[in-house]
Amino acid sequence: MTMPLNQISNAANLLHQGRLVAFPTETVYGLGADAANEAALQAIFAAKNRPTTHPLIVHIASVAQLSDWAQDISSEALQLAKAFWPGPLTLILKKQPWVLDAVTGGQPTVGIRIPSHPIAQALLQAFGGGVAAPSANQFTHLSPTSAADVTEELAGKVDLILDGGNCEVGVESTIIDMTRETPIILRPGMITSEKISVQLGIKIGVYSPHTSSLETRAPGMHHLHYAPTTTTQLISHEDIPNLLTTETTSIVLLTHQSFTSAVPPHIKIVMMSEDPTRYAHDLYHTLREMDHQHFSRIVIEQVPATSEWEAINDRLRKACGVK
Ligand code: TXA
Ligand code: MG
Repeated sequence: MTMPLNQISNAANLLHQGRLVAFPTETVYGLGADAANEAALQAIFAAKNRPTTHPLIVHIASVAQLSDWAQDISSEALQLAKAFWPGPLTLILKKQPWVLDAVTGGQPTVGIRIPSHPIAQALLQAFGGGVAAPSANQFTHLSPTSAADVTEELAGKVDLILDGGNCEVGVESTIIDMTRETPIILRPGMITSEKISVQLGIKIGVYSPHTSSLETRAPGMHHLHYAPTTTTQLISHEDIPNLLTTETTSIVLLTHQSFTSAVPPHIKIVMMSEDPTRYAHDLYHTLREMDHQHFSRIVIEQVPATSEWEAINDRLRKACGVK
């Protein structure tokens, strides 16, 4: 998707003036501000109602800008940059001394990403600097995957929303910490641990709240995040027939495998894709839509525990408030 050049230059001018611009990326929509402007960064936290200790990802147009923000970049980090950028991957690197605390949450590291969406690319090139951009939603809400979602989340709190249609990937970027002895994934995404392991030729760990205390390092990983307001729960495929016969309230069931049991009229079935790429693309959109319909619960069939589903498993657990 492209956009008239004057819209892009208008957006870049707003960023230069310290204003907020929501823009599409291939993952989710971002709420962008000049990453070198303290007041603009504070406006992001205010618009999202987000605690200022949560660090922001800096979006840049090209690898040439990497050293503006990060230093001591390992060859492994560069290898990942070469393999997956532009794309849905965020590298956590040692920050340059001048990177503002509002970006890093006061940590010695900074998250960097080069998005592939043509409108994000055009905006970053026109702006020239780094754009700090969290997902363009209220803190703890679902990330927006369309311009209409951004309006729902941030109407009146953002100076401009660039409409780039529906986001292709649909869930947030993979975040990998490259400042440790062994790289570790802090937030799974559709660039999977398996793809990264294959690329680097070493086994990559995925952070798990059960086995580690990294929580202060990546505060966005706290368990109630990306949640619909309707109570949401996971169910195994085997338990679906029992649910369909015993449930008395009006619920929606998101499944991805077919089943033969009869469905009573007060239960709505939403058939999700069996393909993880398609499932991820549809996930937030579907949850948001179901949230609008005020069911007593959203019940979701568990998805496979394989690497290609790891981001979806992570978001489903978070949507259900499971640690
Ligand atoms: O796909 C994405 O990454 C989207 C699009 C807009 O690029 N952005 C996004 O930003 O999801 P946000 O702020 O909603 O989530 C970024 C997460 C934060 O929750 C934070 O925990 C983590 O990135 N993060 C940022 N900088 C970090 C750092 N220096 N160390 C550890 N975690 C960091
Ligand atoms: Mg977010």
